Amino acid sequence: MSTASKIFTPAVFGALEPRNRLVMAPLTRIRAGADGVPGDLLVEYYAQRASMGLIVTEGTWPVAEGRTWIGQPGIETPAQVEGWRRVADAVHGAGGTIVMQVMHGGRISHPEITGTGRTVGPSAVAAPGEIRVPDGKAALPVPHELTVAEIGQAVAGFAAAARNAIEAGLDGVEVHGANGYLIHEFLSPASNLRDDEYGGTPAKRARFAIEVVTAVAAAIGADRTGIRISPEHNIQGALETDADDVLATYLALADGLAPLGLAFVDVLHADPAGALIQKIRGAVAAPVIVNTGFGVVTTREEAIRLVEEDHAEAVAVGRAAIANPDLAERWAHGHGENDIDSSTFYAGGARGYTDYPALRS
Ligand SMILES: Cc1cc2nc3c(=O)[nH]c(=O)nc-3n(C[C@H](O)[C@H](O)[C@H](O)COP(=O)(O)O)c2cc1C
Repeated sequence: MSTASKIFTPAVFGALEPRNRLVMAPLTRIRAGADGVPGDLLVEYYAQRASMGLIVTEGTWPVAEGRTWIGQPGIETPAQVEGWRRVADAVHGAGGTIVMQVMHGGRISHPEITGTGRTVGPSAVAAPGEIRVPDGKAALPVPHELTVAEIGQAVAGFAAAARNAIEAGLDGVEVHGANGYLIHEFLSPASNLRDDEYGGTPAKRARFAIEVVTAVAAAIGADRTGIRISPEHNIQGALETDADDVLATYLALADGLAPLGLAFVDVLHADPAGALIQKIRGAVAAPVIVNTGFGVVTTREEAIRLVEEDHAEAVAVGRAAIANPDLAERWAHGHGENDIDSSTFYAGGARGYTDYPALRS
């Protein structure tokens, strides 16, 4: 198959007009320093990948309490906005389109990282496992159970971050509702034990996600707003093991999002062509980007097939986009790929970040 495949054709996702249907998946790389300000390295890295139809940035914190890793960028302070402006300008200069993944880590953090003396979540239940702290690793702590007033503040934090992203010149925002972070913690019955209006039933567990996306859409326009979800990912203790409950929860979410007219919904699931994801797709009334998750590295053949067989409007590609700055060109013309070096994913510095060779450099 060649450039004739649909995945290499342009799309219209709300106000976004990706030049092809290859999306650079959100990829945390931990290279923004202690103050979370994107510098020269990030500018170069994202600009190198501008031939992807749409770049979704790494998960970026809206407020310090939503920070999960040291070295993760933020979008709260003026310096962070200025740093992102340089990234957006460079991507646009290279003809690309870029949206910011806004990520509140919720209980996947540590007081030494948030700096607020606590972590937060829907309920006072710790996630399993450990997290990196400045001097080693620590068990993930029991989070503070957010009050209803604090939930409102968290929603407002997402909206403020979205405004900052647009002020910085990015083309839109992807709300991170996946992979066991704050929004996903509300969706999962294992991490959300509330019995108020934010928990207890599928519809109530979906409420926080709907409120965040609605607030972001009101702040920057629904046609520049998307969300990432990962039903049944069963990661970081945000377990979703009851198929009926999963379907009810994500259909409630889709029903809440559909009237907004979002730019896109980005879905991580091992079987995007299966009934669950296609039912969500049918209900959500927005273009759908899919990604098959961490188990197997996304291949050219799989990506082409998912769009060609109309299981999605676009495909998000993670590790292959890390290792190949010119992935869109390589896949369009069937060229080989660089080997992926996972040891440098979170290592800091240029190695394994901006030094992967392009075919024509
Ligand atoms: C190094 C690394 C960092 C990641 N960071 C994020 C992130 O910040 N936000 C997110 O939603 N997913 C994140 N993911 C998941 C990817 O977006 C993607 O779903 C995953 O890599 C599977 O796709 P692939 O097989 O094409 O690599 C990350 C994955 C990797 C390998």
